[in-house]
Amino acid sequence: MSDNKVILNYDGKSFEYPIVDSTIGDRGIDISKLRDQTGLITLDLGYKNTGATISEITYLDGDKGELLYRGYPIEQIAEKSNFTEVMYLLLHGELPKAEQFNSFENNIKKYNFVADELKKLIDVFPRSAHPMGVLSSLTSALTAFNPKAVDVKSKEELDYASELMIAKFSHLCAWTYRKTQGLPINHGDNSLNYVENFYKMAFKLPNQEFVMDPVVVAALDKLLILHADHEQNCSTSTVRMVGSAHTGLFASISSGVSALWGPLHGGANQAVIEMLELIEKDGGDVNKWVEKAKDKNDSFRLMGFGHRVYKNFDPRAKIIKKAADDILGKLGIQDKALDIAMQLEKVALEDEYFIERKLYPNVDFYSGIIYRALGIPTEMFTVMFALGRLPGWIAQWREMRLKGDPIGRPRQIYQGATERDYLDIKSR
Ligand code: SDX
Repeated sequence: MSDNKVILNYDGKSFEYPIVDSTIGDRGIDISKLRDQTGLITLDLGYKNTGATISEITYLDGDKGELLYRGYPIEQIAEKSNFTEVMYLLLHGELPKAEQFNSFENNIKKYNFVADELKKLIDVFPRSAHPMGVLSSLTSALTAFNPKAVDVKSKEELDYASELMIAKFSHLCAWTYRKTQGLPINHGDNSLNYVENFYKMAFKLPNQEFVMDPVVVAALDKLLILHADHEQNCSTSTVRMVGSAHTGLFASISSGVSALWGPLHGGANQAVIEMLELIEKDGGDVNKWVEKAKDKNDSFRLMGFGHRVYKNFDPRAKIIKKAADDILGKLGIQDKALDIAMQLEKVALEDEYFIERKLYPNVDFYSGIIYRALGIPTEMFTVMFALGRLPGWIAQWREMRLKGDPIGRPRQIYQGATERDYLDIKSR
């Protein structure tokens, strides 16, 4: 039986701190009284060893490479579920019964009309604007059209705001894509399901019949499922932090979009393809680039490799890698980038540097290859990640508000100037 407390000896005194138990995974030391009792705080850059909350939504085991959504293994969910059902599961904690699923899906269709004024807003962006900047702005602008703060004590209000966010966000993602392509934007087709509607809204050309390719829809649905939630990652922690100030849901989600944009986080899927294209243009010598990634004096990193938590294969990467093979085969596409990615993976996984640091392909390493096969431009890859991660952000925001987590306000270790008097400019 493991201990249920830890003892800290400091300044000739002993202090006891209780252990917070988990159902699976890390147990934690509750240090909420540490500063009052010892005058000390903790320091943990990047929060590598620090739990920010107690959650019941998603669990990942970085050593085993396992991922559970509300207890269901990602492999089963990716194989058997669909994105709309996964959104319900993450928000409500249980797989929906048929009538719950239908009501959820119908509400999303009911709320998915986006005010025409937002079309005017999208028109002012230059076509060259990065889609993530446009998406973050449009998401925040939703607040202007839905200004009422959510009363989280009302299940109806909380569910309405969550479903409305889901409904409108897919339109904003599709419209962001159309903007970059110089295509007119439309309000979608409610005879279709969520993923089909997004796909047609984004890709239907004004002068051609639209063919709903089931291979593409199935690939998009699976990719969105695989990106749906991932514990307290950078963008989810941002959504929680912003929401902890009781900022509204739309503005909190907009902050998550901005955090996801970073190339070390969701922006890595775009960076992976740019890296593979660079290696291909450079002659395809993967050994040369693996050596560059290992060289501390070289800023080059193997994008799509490594993870803060996974010290084994990212289970999502395994599923996506297989899906990439399947889809390229079905669509009859030969993609040199996939060949280079597979060579890179082989070389890196046999190299001591990567083995020692437990660096494996993560979710971003193969996803871009599928998006590219589906005709999605590189700059839109992170928008696709955001569309997938939306239900996770909303579920985590709801949990944070419903559990009443306090406003996030970390402390610091100060090593700046000690107190000194102001000097008039003549005396400096
Ligand atoms: C996502 O948190 C999540 O769950 C995120 C995510 C989600 O679903 O929300 O899974 C999505 O963001 C996936 C990660 C996408 N990012 C990338 O692929 C960018 C490339 N990866 C690295 O930048 C890095 O691996 C991170 C940012 C992902 C993780 O960084 P950590 O945990 O802070 O690890 P670190 O930077 O301290 O690296 C430890 C060592 C270092 O070497 P040493 O100083 O010990 O000698 O590993 C090296 C690093 O230099 N290293 C790499 C590397 N990643 C880490 N070396 C070369 N190439 C890499 N990609």
